[in-house]
This record gives sequence, structure tokens and C-alpha cells, in this order.
Amino acid sequence: MIFADSRENIEKGAAIIKAGGLVSFPTETVYGLGGNALDPSAVAKIFEAKARPSFDPLITHIAELEMLDRVAKISNKRIFDIIEKFWPGSLTLIVPKRDIIPHLVTSGLETMAVRMPDHKTALELIKLSTGAVAAPSANPFGYLSPTTAAHVDEQLGRKIEMVLDGGTCRIGVESTVLDVTGDRPIVLRPGGISLEELQREIPDVDIFNRTTTSPTAPGQLKMHYSPLKPLHIVDSIDSVSDRNRAGALIFKKGPETDGFKSLEILSPQGDPVEAAARLFVALHNLDKSDIDIIYAEKIPEDGLGRAVMDRIYKASEK
Ligand code: TXA
Ligand code: MG
Repeated sequence: MIFADSRENIEKGAAIIKAGGLVSFPTETVYGLGGNALDPSAVAKIFEAKARPSFDPLITHIAELEMLDRVAKISNKRIFDIIEKFWPGSLTLIVPKRDIIPHLVTSGLETMAVRMPDHKTALELIKLSTGAVAAPSANPFGYLSPTTAAHVDEQLGRKIEMVLDGGTCRIGVESTVLDVTGDRPIVLRPGGISLEELQREIPDVDIFNRTTTSPTAPGQLKMHYSPLKPLHIVDSIDSVSDRNRAGALIFKKGPETDGFKSLEILSPQGDPVEAAARLFVALHNLDKSDIDIIYAEKIPEDGLGRAVMDRIYKASEK
């Protein structure tokens, strides 16, 4: 059931998490499906609700820096500089874990993913519960990520006790995952913090290359974030002639879109930040409409455009 994110309901949600239950909550990126990160049986419930293969490790969400030291071993001063710059925010760090984090959270890895979300409701819920909340995006495994409480309720409502409604997520794509366990920080998943923003603070940051390295983060599995309908990527929507049973996903106003049965424009003015925020809502709408196929026009890979195209490529894989 959906509950407004009032203080009273956040307290109720925190009590559910403390008791080992699950609560879906808003973050600035997408809605999470949260359970106590320190309790393996709560974490098992997350995998069950998502029907997620247990090889896929979860992000631990924290609200206070003191918690970081309880869950992770961080010796490198540089990591604190990164944290100071980007937290709270859409940057997930891969760091060595401490024993207090169950292996179920990390799928057996000795490293963990951790972030401090930039969202008042999320931070309150985390603080009032156990201080460490494991949460994947609140969608069934492989399906589109939710950016509204209604998305969560439609997909998982029957399986979880509470969906806290904080409105539409401001960023709209998942956090950037940055591995800082090696000498050189590597982006494993492009996301809410753009590569350009990272480069300004971390000049030697590298980006994981799917074609030359085997996936260490299942976020890099090619099929992920998929709608049920087939999605085809095209350089230009103008080239699509078969339109009457098709939906179009385009970046900005401009192309000739007559004849498509449904149409989603990510950002009329062509702003990649707005496009990211609208992406999953647009894909959900297209997936629900009475069409047979979705055509997605490529968008420029600058700033958040890179995260948007990453999700569109993944949505196109079957
Ligand atoms: O914005 C977000 O990050 C959202 C909100 C709810 O915080 N969460 C999210 O979680 O997207 P999820 O579970 O859908 O994605 C977690 C990503 C996956 O790509 C996973 O493989 C990676 O983090 N990850 C987790 N632990 C890891 C580890 N130890 N090493 C490498 N990658 C890891
Ligand atoms: Mg996900």
C-alpha cells in the first residue's frame, strides 16, 4: 500500500525495517526496496520480492558518516575527499566491507556498495531504522526501474508492506557506481553523477568498458531495465515507416512523429538532465500502451545523456 511520506509514516516504515520487513522508499534517483542490511533474513526477503538472482549484490544505504566506518574499511584518504564532494548524492562507492555486512548483501564478495542518498525521506527512514538499509531499485528483476510510488505499487505492491510516496524521483536514473578499491577509480555503471562531474574531482577516473572486461557488476549485464515490449534503437525516428502499431521515444521536439500510436518526448528543449528524470516514466507509459514495438531515437551521450543511453541500450537487449 502507498503511504504519504509524513513523519508518522516514516516512523512506521522504520519500525517495519527494524522488525525485519521491507519498505519501498523514494530516493533522488529511483525508488528503493529497503530492508535491514545487517539482517540476512531481511535481505533474503528483498531477493525474493524482486525474484532477483542472488548473485546480484545490493547497495547499502546510510544516512550518517559514522555508519560508514561500522560497515566498511576505508583507509585511503582520497575516498573521503570523494565522499565529501559527492555525498549525500547519486554516487555509489565500491569499498572493502566489514564482517557486520552479511555476505548475502554482497553476493559473497569482500567488497560492498554503499551510498548516502540525497533525499530527506530516505535519510530519515535510514536514521530511524537501523542506520544501514540494503536497497536495490524497487522493480522485479530485469524490469524498468520505478521513479514513482505508483510504479512500485503496480509491480511489487502485493509483496511489500509499505510504499512511502515521495513523489517523482528528481534524478530518475540510478546512481553512478564507482569502484574505488583499486589504484584508479573506475565507473562500473554510469548514472546520476555524470562522468564529466567526476572527472572534475577525479582526473584519472576511468570508465568500465563492457567490450574489453568481463562484468563484475551485474548492473552491466546487457539485459537489464527492460520493458516487456521489444525496443529498437534508431539513429533517427524519421527513418521509421511502420508506425501505426508502434510507439516512439524521442529526446526532444523536432522530428516528424505523425502516425505513431504513442509518443514520449523526454525533454522538449533537449536537456539531458530532464531526459534522465523522465526516462523510466516514459518507458513505463510506452510499455503499458497498446503497441507492439517501441522505437527509441539515440540521444547525445553528453552529461546524463550517457546514463540515459546506457539504460536504452540495456532496454533494447532481450
Ligand atoms: O540509485 C540507485 O543506486 C538505486 C537507489 C535505490 O539507491 N539502487 C540501485 O540498486 O540501483 P541496484 O541493486 O538496482 O543496483 C546496484 C548496482 C548493481 O549494478 C550491482 O551490481 C552493483 O551496484 N554492486 C553492488 N555491490 C557491488 C560490488 N561489491 N561490486 C561491484 N558492483 C556492485
Ligand atoms: Mg536495479
